[in-house]
Amino acid sequence: MPRIKIAPSILSADLSKVNQEIRDVEKYADLIHVDIMDGIFVPPTTVDSDFVKTIKTKVPLDVHLMVHEPSDSYIKRFIEAGAYSITIHEEACKNPAKQINFIKKNKIKTGISIKPNTQLDKIKKYLDIVDMVLVMTVEPGWAGQKFMQSIMPKVMELRKLKPKLDIEVDGGINPVTARIAYDEGANVFVAGTSIFGKKDRAAAIKEILSALK
Ligand code: DX5
Ligand code: ZN
Repeated sequence: MPRIKIAPSILSADLSKVNQEIRDVEKYADLIHVDIMDGIFVPPTTVDSDFVKTIKTKVPLDVHLMVHEPSDSYIKRFIEAGAYSITIHEEACKNPAKQINFIKKNKIKTGISIKPNTQLDKIKKYLDIVDMVLVMTVEPGWAGQKFMQSIMPKVMELRKLKPKLDIEVDGGINPVTARIAYDEGANVFVAGTSIFGKKDRAAAIKEILSALK
């Protein structure tokens, strides 16, 4: 299995002082997860590429686009804003290969994500061209929801198919649920509430890491 990575999600951080918030997790985070919501694919809206530009950190930015049919120029803005990886949603794009190929052409990492009710079959044809699959363990759109254990068979099947692929889980991840997902084959763990909801963020990350030992 590829190496374990922890990706604190700034959706649960205080965005009015985002760089200070990121400093709290920088030492232990492998990625900073940035949720982009458009109010169409998911009801809420969040930050945009101009906001992403203001993020100052050496930790790679893992951009999760919960966005309906993102255009090349829209994606490009996040690349210019410093994204390390961009993940699109299978359900949001008519032909996800278009967006995947555009992201790849720009030489950054690319991921595809599926919502809880989307079957793995829908993305099997992309598994050889992406760097990561983001398996949503809650309905996208909100932090603080309960981890859906019923998603785990998808993670297990995916790991069987792709022993070396980064498999990211997102939604309701804490030390207990991270361990459950890890045992099924996930290796990248997004966590919002269970890290930024705590006073001691470093301790919160260490707690997740020690549950994975
Ligand atoms: C939800 C987002 C998640 C969110 C997770 O749509 O994609 O990244 O920040 O938050 P928690 O960890 O609180 O479930
Ligand atoms: Zn996310």
